[in-house]
Amino acid sequence: MIEQFKGKTALITGGMGFIGSNLAIKLAELGAKVTILDAMIPDYGGNVFNVTESEKIRINFCDIRDPSAVDWLVRGQDYVFHLAGQVCHLMSLSNPFPDIEMNITGTAIVMEALRKHNPNAIVVYTGTRGQYGSVVSMPVNEEAPTNPKGIYEISNLTAEKIIKVYNDVHGIRSCSLRLSNIYGPRSQMMHSRFGVANWFIRLAMDNDTIQVFGDGTILRDFCYVDDCVDAILRVATTPECYGEIFNVGSDIPVSFRELCDAIVKVAKSGRWQFAEFSPERKAQEPGDFYSDISKIERFTGWRPKTTLEEGIAKTIEYYAKHRDQYWTKPEKTLPASDKEKVTATKR
Ligand SMILES: NC(=O)c1ccc[n+]([C@@H]2O[C@H](COP(=O)([O-])OP(=O)(O)OC[C@H]3O[C@@H](n4cnc5c(N)ncnc54)[C@H](O)[C@@H]3O)[C@@H](O)[C@H]2O)c1
Repeated sequence: MIEQFKGKTALITGGMGFIGSNLAIKLAELGAKVTILDAMIPDYGGNVFNVTESEKIRINFCDIRDPSAVDWLVRGQDYVFHLAGQVCHLMSLSNPFPDIEMNITGTAIVMEALRKHNPNAIVVYTGTRGQYGSVVSMPVNEEAPTNPKGIYEISNLTAEKIIKVYNDVHGIRSCSLRLSNIYGPRSQMMHSRFGVANWFIRLAMDNDTIQVFGDGTILRDFCYVDDCVDAILRVATTPECYGEIFNVGSDIPVSFRELCDAIVKVAKSGRWQFAEFSPERKAQEPGDFYSDISKIERFTGWRPKTTLEEGIAKTIEYYAKHRDQYWTKPEKTLPASDKEKVTATKR
């Protein structure tokens, strides 16, 4: 895989954000010429500290909803990693339009640009495990029914289906991932609306109290960002993956209590306590989830390599060095409601 990116070109939409910036840095290390497209939407994860422009990484501040910009930027790209979009489940419940405009229309704009100007590019799209909604049995494989619980999840599922149509009908080699809870360096740490593991890490680093809704037994599969980037690169370079959908997560489920214990232990600061679910949170909570990752393992050999403790330690190490680039004092940056209502319902 390492050789396959040497001298290649890659466009990353959403490349200033959490996963996109880690991907950009890795691709540049592997010898690819990377172009980032990012609109730096306020409150999302875009951060100019995440990536430094260089000979290997070019940055374009523009929006996937602008067809002329996208038409231009897709030209000559060997790979297009489509990560830009509305990223917040909670926001999608009070305003559905950013999801529709960014995740559905935006994806159609990217795929149309490719159809017209660069149909030979290989595309990877990052959707969410939330597309499954509440599940009846675990681990959840790609054949499980999709019952999205919010507009964010519906719009991700729609984007995935748009991409599949362009693969099947227009021959644009593409593949879609359903990511579980990804955590690690370069995620936004300003608020708790998405990225629950990172948020808990911030609270522990601030020697604060993590509030866990319910009895803390809800299960998730947390995946360290380097492993997620590895999965993205492997599917991109495995022709059998084109036209397919893959879960990316971990088959080792972790309860929120276990997550908090691990964070507090590794951080050597902070604490956690139980908190009552608010009725709204309770209604939105999809319940336990962990991924069956055997399909991506079968196709590409991918498995997550980073243990939870290692991932937490690396994350803390990064933010301990660069905290001031991601958050300032908690009292100043956070509304009280955000600080108190940390829940188990994030992506
Ligand atoms: N992080 C996770 O745990 C997770 C889980 C499931 C799915 N995903 C999906 O992975 C993708 C990347 O997520 P992330 O965690 O890196 O998010 P992020 O918020 O850190 O990064 C997203 C980036 O996209 C940019 N962006 C958003 N809308 C844009 C637009 N219209 N035009 C151009 N740029 C735009 C933002 O400015 C931001 O920099 C998203 O599609 C997200 O839904 C992430």
